[in-house]
Amino acid sequence: MDMISVALPKGRLGEKVYARFKAAGYPCPSIEEENRKLIFENPEAGVRYFWVKPSDVAIYVERGAADIGVAGKDILLEYAPDVYELADLGLGKCRMCVAGKKDFRDRTDRVLRVATKFPRIASGYYASMSRDIDIIHLNGSIEIAPILGLSDVIVDIVETGKTLLENDLEPKTTIVPISARLIANKVSYKFKHEQIVELCRRVEELAEKG
Ligand code: PRP
Repeated sequence: MDMISVALPKGRLGEKVYARFKAAGYPCPSIEEENRKLIFENPEAGVRYFWVKPSDVAIYVERGAADIGVAGKDILLEYAPDVYELADLGLGKCRMCVAGKKDFRDRTDRVLRVATKFPRIASGYYASMSRDIDIIHLNGSIEIAPILGLSDVIVDIVETGKTLLENDLEPKTTIVPISARLIANKVSYKFKHEQIVELCRRVEELAEKG
């Protein structure tokens, strides 16, 4: 039987995702060893794992370098990859928010300057309320932008709220809740259908149990 290749998001979320896959019957002992390798396989369990940058998971899956993967809903909304979204794993829960300085008051007679790593999500949100904005596309440390006067607000991920708090910012509005999703390549889903459906069923069952 063909192995299923799985793109995992490197980092804290990826560790939780692997633990879920292991519990679902897809262990891979070599991935649990401390090393810098990026590809691991367990032919007996029929699975091959790759560690990739979280924002790249959808690219590997869309192009078929991985059959399935786990990506945050934020990435799926931002890049709209041509993949199937099979399940909400209930891991990596956080929210996409508008945040700003505590004393910030929006003046609708002015173009709002919005700093973000997620220009599509931010543009879509403000377009839905017909608000003119100027997007400032940054790659990280977004919280600095309103402090230095680069932007009026930010659109970013809030998990515990600690980063905002420690930078004297506060969440203003939640745009959308975020969590990790199981995604599949469209061709793989057709040709490895039974294996992928079975894997999805098992990891989803564990999500329901919490
Ligand atoms: C996200 C986000 C915030 C932080 C929020 O960054 O951009 O900076 O997490 O988490 P908190 O509400 O628990 O403080 P991430 O860790 O993904 O790093 P990055 O900005 O480098 O991508």
